[in-house]
Amino acid sequence: MIDLRSDTVTKPSKEMRNVMVNAEVGDDVYREDPTANRLQKYCAELFGKEDALFVPSGVMGNQLCLNVLTQPGDEIICDKNAHIFLYESGSPAMLSGLSMNLIDGQNGVITPAEVETLIRPISAYYMPRTKVIEVENTHNVAGGVVHPIENIKALKTLADKHRLKMHLDGARLWNASVATGISVAEYSAYFDTVSVCLSKGLGSPVGSIILGEKEMIEEAFRVRKGWGGGMRQIGILAAAGLYAIENNFSRLSEDHKNAKELAENIAKMESVEIDTLLVQTNILMFKPRTMSVEEVIVKSKEKGLLLGHGGVGVVRAVTHMDVTDKDIEKAVLILSQVLN
Ligand SMILES: Cc1ncc(COP(=O)(O)O)c(C=O)c1O
Repeated sequence: MIDLRSDTVTKPSKEMRNVMVNAEVGDDVYREDPTANRLQKYCAELFGKEDALFVPSGVMGNQLCLNVLTQPGDEIICDKNAHIFLYESGSPAMLSGLSMNLIDGQNGVITPAEVETLIRPISAYYMPRTKVIEVENTHNVAGGVVHPIENIKALKTLADKHRLKMHLDGARLWNASVATGISVAEYSAYFDTVSVCLSKGLGSPVGSIILGEKEMIEEAFRVRKGWGGGMRQIGILAAAGLYAIENNFSRLSEDHKNAKELAENIAKMESVEIDTLLVQTNILMFKPRTMSVEEVIVKSKEKGLLLGHGGVGVVRAVTHMDVTDKDIEKAVLILSQVLN
């Protein structure tokens, strides 16, 4: 089976498993896990932030960041298709008492002008209090689209003007960085908190990292424990994370090349609608014109290709390190049989 459902399906390589087996460990609730401490220090330096914390998942990372930036009753402004809104089980409300004010962004990009219209006046004590602007980079539902750095800078200027905080859901910030050549530190400089995943394109089995000022990460450490996220000998997982960043970060360009290759071949098929300009990283979305999404998924699976749902009428395919150039050739062949 060629599995293009998500970049989360990657399995740890033999080399990654080796470093996991041999990792030095200790009790992380006592902050005594040397490998977790090493990963956190390494990430803080890489992202140019004061401190970092290993967390079990991207959802927990985002939600911890939102929690430490806000008070119950506060409001977050973000794109209507943001992962924190659509796919995190209502956690902003469930865990932190937050409401969301949504923008109908253009491929996940929200402009300062749009954001400014939603900021509540400070004098309006009877309204929710606007507290955070959230950006997702790359944007999942938009199909791995990179958020332009100039727009991020403008959002930061707006946030400063209104004394708002900025949070970055950088689950796939690694991909944005490889696609643009802009470092993860440069992207992170405009945000108070950043969450990045180790278990997507980088191929780690578990884990995310959150980053921010020391005081915020200290508070997130406390809240993580309260949410049941205090872990013990996590060096085994942290070792995989370190290995993933050191060995699998720059190779993401191969996934991007494969996604482009796949997209360009799909674009030649008449029964499909695809915007290849939006295929900027490792995700591609396409609309079958004559079949339902379900039919495309079932028929492709029968021929050995796994695809995912990308929203109403949209099929999603994601390239990753367990997919080779040859697999992409096969995927093109299967899709040409299914779709033509
Ligand atoms: C943009 C984005 N943010 C956050 C997450 C959550 O990550 P996790 O599945 O590790 O909780 C995902 C997962 O797909 C994602 O795509």
